[in-house]
Amino acid sequence: MEFNPFAPEVKQNPYPYFAHLRDHSPVYWVESLKSWAVSRYEDVAYIAKNTQLFSSAPIIPAILGDQNPVPEVNWMISADPPAHTALRKLVNKAFTPRMVAALEPRIREIVAQLLDQIAEKGGEFDLVHDFSTPLPLMVIAQMLGIEPERYREFKRWSDDMIRATGGEEVSPAERERLRGSMDDLRNYFENAIAERRQHPREDLISALVRAEEDHHQLTAREVLAMCLLLLLGGNETTTNLIGSTVLTLLSHPAELAKVRADLTLVPQMIEEMLRYEAPAQALLRQATADTKIAGSTIPAGSGVMILYGSANRDERQFPNPDVFDVTRNPQEHLAFGFGIHYCIGAPLARLEARIAMDAFLRRFPKVALCEQRREWIDSFVVRGPKSLPLELH
Ligand code: HEM
Repeated sequence: MEFNPFAPEVKQNPYPYFAHLRDHSPVYWVESLKSWAVSRYEDVAYIAKNTQLFSSAPIIPAILGDQNPVPEVNWMISADPPAHTALRKLVNKAFTPRMVAALEPRIREIVAQLLDQIAEKGGEFDLVHDFSTPLPLMVIAQMLGIEPERYREFKRWSDDMIRATGGEEVSPAERERLRGSMDDLRNYFENAIAERRQHPREDLISALVRAEEDHHQLTAREVLAMCLLLLLGGNETTTNLIGSTVLTLLSHPAELAKVRADLTLVPQMIEEMLRYEAPAQALLRQATADTKIAGSTIPAGSGVMILYGSANRDERQFPNPDVFDVTRNPQEHLAFGFGIHYCIGAPLARLEARIAMDAFLRRFPKVALCEQRREWIDSFVVRGPKSLPLELH
């Protein structure tokens, strides 16, 4: 069987292809990506953990290419130790559990406000457009300290950044517009960073500017790259987690009934969701030495695609992996990665998803999927429903 991650049928439902890879070619050469795809849980975890053998260097060049607004900076997600260790220590000082916990009341408020708007409209709505897209964006804006009156612009810049990185064919005029938008985004953050240096506030930009470790501080450009990385890493993934959760629950009425009957199941249901439909399905690495994985040698210098989405469906790790079971509580899923690059935003994403789902289920006891063809986002890297038309009864 050929595995082409760009084929529309693979993007719509990759799991039968992943199962075939795990059983027959756990290390598979993908010609279109010029990379090895690694699909078994054990191997994905091994590669993610062994940063000396597998470097993260290709990630940012692959995502941002010539649209990288700060190419001179070593972005944390693309950095290896010791540079990664130093960056992560500094960011950990700013992005603390306390800061995330302090956001909780504001997240509840944003969720309530978005659900109010949906309820007022009544009838049909699109969960992705009306709920799961604005929520993480408003939360990140709040966390960074972006003024509410600039949310609209901020949303456009964020959308454009994702569009600029989406690998889509865009016209020269659109390319120019995206470039202008990236300039505006960069200017906004540069001004905000300079301003926070003079007048610190209670926000993440100020905390990043202030963070110090071993007499070392982030430069203005590093703070800028970090803000952009938080936007890149934290928006679409969280949107997709919430979209996939609602779609999957409504398509599994027995599981939905269990959660509705006992809302304390929400946190573990979210963990099962992260396993079942990993929002970040694949990430890149580069082999630094010839390395044997599952009996095959990956030559030094090769690109390697680790399939978190496949690892989470590996029957060697999870019994009946294709069954969505809200009581499974799979602690060891790889949806947030593994090792030193483990998602720094995981506590925030979990908090948002739990608050969002708890409030959604309480608020809408009767909600149904509209009978339309459902499409997943056109990507093999990020996974979530493109739109999700629902009907309130
Ligand atoms: C459901 C939501 C999310 C998912 C599924 C997710 C997934 C991931 C994964 C798989 C990685 C590891 C990358 C690798 O192995 O190379 C990662 C790293 C990262 N994530 Fe998330 N993420 C989510 C939400 C967030 C949020 C809310 C933020 C920030 C506000 C965030 C910021 C980051 C950053 C900065 C890194 C890089 C960490 C490092 O290099 O040390 N993510 N994320």
